[in-house]
Formats: sequence, C-alpha cells, structure tokens
Amino acid sequence: MYLTKDEERLLAGEKGEVLERMFRLLVKLGEIYGAEKMIPISSVQVAGVSYKSIDDPGMEFLEDIASKGEKVKVLTYLNPAGMDLEDWREIGFPEDFAEKQMRIMSAFKKMGVVVTATCTPYLAGNLPRFREHIAWSESSAVSFSNSVISARTNREGGPSALAAALCGVTPDYGLHRDENRSPDMVIKVDADLKYNADFGLLGYHVGKLVKNKKPYYQGIKDANTDHLKALGAAMAASGAVALYYIENLTPEAHLQDTDELDIIEVDAADLKETKKALNTGEEPDIVILGCPHASLREIGDLAERVKGKSLKKPLWICTSRVMSEAAERMGYKDIIEGAGGRIVADTCCVVSPIERMGYSTTAVNSGKAAKYLPGFCNQKVIFENVDDLVRRLV
Ligand code: F3S
Repeated sequence: MYLTKDEERLLAGEKGEVLERMFRLLVKLGEIYGAEKMIPISSVQVAGVSYKSIDDPGMEFLEDIASKGEKVKVLTYLNPAGMDLEDWREIGFPEDFAEKQMRIMSAFKKMGVVVTATCTPYLAGNLPRFREHIAWSESSAVSFSNSVISARTNREGGPSALAAALCGVTPDYGLHRDENRSPDMVIKVDADLKYNADFGLLGYHVGKLVKNKKPYYQGIKDANTDHLKALGAAMAASGAVALYYIENLTPEAHLQDTDELDIIEVDAADLKETKKALNTGEEPDIVILGCPHASLREIGDLAERVKGKSLKKPLWICTSRVMSEAAERMGYKDIIEGAGGRIVADTCCVVSPIERMGYSTTAVNSGKAAKYLPGFCNQKVIFENVDDLVRRLV
C-alpha cells in the first residue's frame, strides 16, 4: 500500500502513540481489502455510542484515547446514545446507566467530536456533497449517503470510523471506488407504497433476498427522503445493503447499465407476508416512531395526527436534538406532549434500555426497529403504519 511521507511518519509513531495505533488499524483494513492508498475524507459518523452497546470496556477504551489529547481532524458526528441526554431523568432512564453514558459523551467531546447523537446526521448539520468521500458507520446513514446523496462511504465499524476521524483519511477500497458501485440485480416492484412502513416492508423483504448486494429498483413511482431513509434502513438491517438505486429517483441511477442483470419481482403479497412475519406481539406497552431518527416533517405529521387527543399508552418519537428543538419552536412538542406522547432526542428504541424500563411489547413502523427489537431489547413487536399505530392509542 502506498503511503505518503507524512503517513509513514504516523505509522512510525512520530506523531504519538494514539495516532500510530489508529493509523495502523486503517492500514490493516486497507491491506485486507486491497486498497492501494489512503484518501482524505470530509466527515465521519461514529457508531458504538450507547453504553448499552459498548459497556464498560468500550467506555474505558474511549476514555483512554481521549485522555491522550488527540483531536478529530474532520467534522465528526455520533450515532444515537442510550438515552435523551437532557431529559433522561424525567423520561425514566436508569441513574447508573445515565452516569456511564455521560462519561462516554465527555470522552467524545474531549476528542473534538460533535456530541449530537443521531443516525440521520444529514438532517442535523452533517450533509456530505455528491461524490464526496466520507467514513460513516451507522448502516442506515451509510445507505442514505451512498444512495440518495451519492456520496462515497463503506460501512465502517465504530473503531475504524474513530480512526478515520482522528487521522482524517480512510483506505481507498469498496464503495469509495466507482468500479465497485454497479448494481447487481434489478428489483421490479409492483405494489402501492404510501407509508414509511410500506417502504420499510419492501426494504426488509429485499434486504433478506439480496444480502450485501446492490439492488436497482424499478417501479417505485415516487418517494420522499423519509421514505428513502426507511427503505435503506430496513435493507441494511435484514441484509447488509449499503448502496441501492431507484430508477428516475436517485442521482446516479441513470448512469447504470441494467440490461444483463437478473430480475427479482416483488409484489403486494410479498409485503403482506413480510408484515405477518414481523408481527410477534398482540398489545403494545409503548409505540415508538423515529427509526431512523424522525425528520421535522415526520414530527409535524405526527403532531397533526395526535392533536387534541388523549393517548392511552406511551408514545415516543425519537429524533436528533436539532430536530427536537425545531419541533419545539414549531409547537409540535406541545401538541405531542399535550396528547401524552414525547419527543425523545439523542437515542432510539434499539440502543436505549427499554427492556429495563418496563416495556416488553413495542409497536413500530420501521423495518429496522422490527428486526432488532427482539434480539437487542427482548421485545415482542407490533409492526404497522403510523395511522394504525395512532389508532391503537386513542
Ligand atoms: Fe437509528 Fe436506532 Fe433505527 S440508530 S436507524 S433509530 S435502530
């Protein structure tokens, strides 16, 4: 692997022990995947932030790195933490958990990381440009940035993303290279897609079929950015899709040659089957929306749906702090809270300890949440669209 003089000095430890360790990790990755050089990146998004996911060893690793005084070189955001970083006590997050979570956030802050914790950084001030190289780790955000923005990123692990942030470069392999970005098959969709939940079902079904391949969709007539983030998140969860194309909708779809590709057909019956398989619960203890983190439009739509109502069960909509503050200004927060629901910032249903908070059946409209809630949070799942979910609450 070709290294510049400066990079050779990093590897030789001339710029300190932390950078040597971090750069060595990037070189190893590059060697494994056949990279010929490092490339500069413009932003990073680091996963492995919740205390629930990384526990004491992860927290101590971050505190150790932070104590050495090294700072990130590019704009670096974080994936959701394990709790709302401001209102955690009021919402009922456990005290011992909160103490550890705060230590993790302090360590990141010491490294110069922006301590906003969200899986939709592109809605919260970290928006890459078309064809810009970045190193992100949250799978739904990787899918969104590769597919909807046409930026370039591999699906980084937490440590490799942190290493990229501290060194400002990433190895040039995988989805950073144009020759690896061609679609592998065509997915022909014959189904009405209206709700986020419909896109989540489609993504879940296709992700299971195509695993880590790159699908090219035909037949999706329209989709807004909320639909696309739901589709990408589900595909990345049930499979490991990091890049997809939609004919006439995503930026580089028209450049792809699909003539020789196999075709997989998906229709309404497939989505119905998928929905049936995802539903394992009967009555929800709580309804949680905002996976991936809700946009302002989604929060506003929910406010409209629950306005003046009195909800019988807890309702959360998870989002970034930035969206939560905008929602407060727009009066959405008052409306949702007036009905008995909550806007919960900085965290999500999967990485927060909901199983310790007395919930055992969670209702969602997200394919990704439906996939992870049973294993990560010991939850039974109800999967429905937002209208059906709200209907259950009133
Ligand atoms: Fe985001 Fe959590 Fe879903 S990280 S994509 S809200 S599981």
